[in-house]
Amino acid sequence: MEFATKTIHAGQPSEPETGALIAPIFQTSTYEQEAPGVNRGFDYSRTNNPTRARLETVLAALEGVDYCATFGSGLAAENAILQAYLKPGDEIVIPLDVYGGTYRILNKVFQPLGAIVKQIDLGTPGALEASLSPKTKLVWIESPTNPRLLVYDIAAIAAATHAAGALLVVDNTFATPLFQQPFELGADLVVHSVTKYLAGHSDVIQGAVLAREQAVFEPVKFLQNATGAVPSAFDCWLTLRGLQTFELRVQRHAENADAIANALNGHPLVKTVYFPGLASHPGHEIARRQMTGFGGMVSFELKGTVDEVVSFVSNRRYFALGESLGGVKALICHPARMTHASIPADERAKLGLSDTLIRLSTGCEHRRDLVADLLEGLAVIEQARALNVAVPAGV
Ligand SMILES: Cc1ncc(COP(=O)(O)O)c(C=O)c1O
Repeated sequence: MEFATKTIHAGQPSEPETGALIAPIFQTSTYEQEAPGVNRGFDYSRTNNPTRARLETVLAALEGVDYCATFGSGLAAENAILQAYLKPGDEIVIPLDVYGGTYRILNKVFQPLGAIVKQIDLGTPGALEASLSPKTKLVWIESPTNPRLLVYDIAAIAAATHAAGALLVVDNTFATPLFQQPFELGADLVVHSVTKYLAGHSDVIQGAVLAREQAVFEPVKFLQNATGAVPSAFDCWLTLRGLQTFELRVQRHAENADAIANALNGHPLVKTVYFPGLASHPGHEIARRQMTGFGGMVSFELKGTVDEVVSFVSNRRYFALGESLGGVKALICHPARMTHASIPADERAKLGLSDTLIRLSTGCEHRRDLVADLLEGLAVIEQARALNVAVPAGV
């Protein structure tokens, strides 16, 4: 079955009792049993729910594996993996540019419980090998990363991780299963903020963990029920609905990102454009090898002041100023003041996160409107400079 067909058909037959083309939301907490302990696969909705089961079947099919557990958020999904695999004294290796929430849960929740977090520059040759020890249980990466969209060689990282007897977790939120299949590259576990491209409409918070091997999956599946951070049936249904247009949406995001990156690249007010699809991007060759598309995210550094950045991001016609990504409506974000504000300025500088960096989540609007909106914003800055007047205030 082709990818787009899976998003519509995998685990989604018409509802058998009525023939309803779209199955209803099984909005129930419990199930009538035929005799004590005799049920039809469902006994309590924290443990299992038909709407959730449908969603887990589709997500597993999209990542090309058999096992998926969904959670009430991406971070709840991350927590289940970390609780399953990190005991006191165990080590986890993460790159410098890991999602802030992952950094926070590791340093504020798991480190105090005795886990050892090693944060390394994955781009430095040999750094990963040097950080691995017999105590390493997990290596955790994203590719492309947030917000500079760095790309890491997943197959090479998987080989080094396995040689040390550890498991590789890949956060595939930015790439999406349409453009990157981490299990084919050697990942043991894949985690998603379903909130983003998979649900796709900025109306759901949800997460998922996927695994190829049952033995690797079981501890996570156990925690889904035992700690109970499960998504509601309604949210699962919303994601199922969103998934039916997943391929169309994500293709459109990627086309828009490509148009925007090329329009910004070389603009006199733009210092650097971060987009793995540009030949000038340091991870371009690896991205071509391990991805089938370059995704829908673009970041760029403005050649200007923080005031100009604030004015630019606050006054766009189509890019709403907001955190998150992957929805049909375009979003713009100023990482230094928003998603990455909790990182001290000197740390941000070490990570290469300039205060004039702007991150775009391209939406499914028409690319001409999105590009025009951005170029208009740059023209306003140019005019203000020419007239020696202040840029329009942030709203
Ligand atoms: C790459 C990545 N992973 C995980 C998460 C956490 O997901 P959630 O917000 O659904 O808890 C996010 C959220 O922004 C993210 O960007």
